[in-house]
Amino acid sequence: MNRFGERFTITTFGESHGKAIGCVLDGVPAGLEIDEAFIQSELDRRKPGQNEFATARKENDKVEVLSGVFEGFSTGTPITLVIYNTDQKSGDYSNVKDIFRPGHADFTYFHKYGLRDYRGGGRSSARETAARVAGGAVAKLMLKSLGIEFTSGISAIHGIEAQTLDFSYPKNSPIYALDKNVEEAQKTAILEAKNAHDSVGGVATVKISNLPIGLGEGLYYKLDAVLAEAMMGINAVKAVEIGEGTHSAELLASENNDPITPNGFKSNHAGGILGGMSNGDDILIRVHFKPTPSIFIDQESIDTHNESVHVSLKGRHDPCVAVRGSVVAESMAALVIADMVLLNMGRTMDGIKGYYL
Ligand SMILES: Cc1cc2nc3c(=O)[nH]c(=O)nc-3n(C[C@H](O)[C@H](O)[C@H](O)COP(=O)(O)O)c2cc1C
Repeated sequence: MNRFGERFTITTFGESHGKAIGCVLDGVPAGLEIDEAFIQSELDRRKPGQNEFATARKENDKVEVLSGVFEGFSTGTPITLVIYNTDQKSGDYSNVKDIFRPGHADFTYFHKYGLRDYRGGGRSSARETAARVAGGAVAKLMLKSLGIEFTSGISAIHGIEAQTLDFSYPKNSPIYALDKNVEEAQKTAILEAKNAHDSVGGVATVKISNLPIGLGEGLYYKLDAVLAEAMMGINAVKAVEIGEGTHSAELLASENNDPITPNGFKSNHAGGILGGMSNGDDILIRVHFKPTPSIFIDQESIDTHNESVHVSLKGRHDPCVAVRGSVVAESMAALVIADMVLLNMGRTMDGIKGYYL
């Protein structure tokens, strides 16, 4: 299962230390202007090695379009985007060749497949998420022409919560903080963990704006369900909340319901989704990332012969994956919405007649 979506689909390929990673997008309508500079700029937001809050790996992440685009426009055929791997240090992983890193996917990959590409985690490496960001950029280009916009940032690091969400601020912050007032404390939490050879978790918030009403299916392809699946499919994501999220279970209906006025909703506890469909308000998604599993502290594990070992990892790892993960979450949201927009087109006879007659 390397494919996501029903009408606007993405299939990703490649491993962390293989030749390349990339994606094939199918279902992109013909005639969309494919702005390669924009795709690259999205990858640049996710790429590592940019500051002390991310891994020092210097991945260039230069995207190439291999198919599906002619004279700058999509042709309606599969679009293939490829990113060649350039900064692999496979030697960093030789000491974990026969060892399962606690918190990582080595244990399950080995037991499921009987072998694994241990270099950088192979397919389980979050390197794969660069392909999702490239694909998500194409989805964003399509949705931009409909006025639909995506933003994201960091709301919490190691329990230090943003008190306000200012979506214009993350571009000024090396940790993509949404609240300037807690940014320093959040940065300190990351650096303290890093200096202690440990890592921290965090929460990213994604906002989707200017949606039409009615995206999402009422029952088995509910917008909130598919967004949650998309987010949970990102490496290290352990929980997803829409709108008021888990807090809604602590509220009275009179506190949680959003009053409706002729001018729209008075509040947005629903996070922009009612009955599995967009209600026209902003969609707000909180995406919870666990701490990066690869740390440099001595840990207990076993090897492939079931013998107890102590692991002391080497290599270059993110001290907090939520930071770069926020860009991936935003991209996955774009892929979901692009899919929902195409799925929604057949919902009424009037709509179908408008297209064919
Ligand atoms: C953007 C991003 C970067 C990541 N970088 C690292 C890393 O440098 N080292 C690491 O051990 N895990 C990293 N991870 C997390 C692992 O890929 C993930 O924890 C692992 O595949 C196990 O999957 P699970 O945590 O979903 O169970 C990263 C995740 C994301 C989203």
